[in-house]
Amino acid sequence: MKYFYKKNTHMPFTALKPQILDSLSQEGLSLEQKLTSVCEILQSSLPVYNWVGVYFANHEEKTLHLRAFAGEPTEHTMIPFGKGICGQVAVSNDNFVVPDVKEQDNYLACSIYVKSEIVVPLFKDGVNVGQIDVDSHTPNSFSREDEDFLEWVNRQVSVIL
Ligand code: SME
Repeated sequence: MKYFYKKNTHMPFTALKPQILDSLSQEGLSLEQKLTSVCEILQSSLPVYNWVGVYFANHEEKTLHLRAFAGEPTEHTMIPFGKGICGQVAVSNDNFVVPDVKEQDNYLACSIYVKSEIVVPLFKDGVNVGQIDVDSHTPNSFSREDEDFLEWVNRQVSVIL
């Protein structure tokens, strides 16, 4: 008999919510500083969240632009709509959970260490204005709980846009 331990089941999402709300409501910080703070909280608190970034869409040019991140710098600071996991989410408006990045044809590699990824769109007044992107060095790191949590994060971010 094999037993499978699900890594994410006991992640402290609830405990992180007050910190995230505090970061987003700090006076005197720019939007970039607030978003960077949120990325840093997620990246430093959740062991499988090895890189966390927030992209914003330019709908005229059909491109995504990295506004804040935590983790190693990436060459993918601008991504055309439709390219990679991020670019596909810019068009689909749906969450994209990738248990194994090797299985994806339309994928932009940020690092050879990345094994799984989740991208959740950020909506403002019903418009897909950007997204949060999380990379993990562990395969199959993301579940429905991560989707729910990152949707919650994006709802809080949309309040300050
Ligand atoms: N992997 C993403 C590119 C962004 S990096 O993960 C930072 C993609 O395929 O769109």
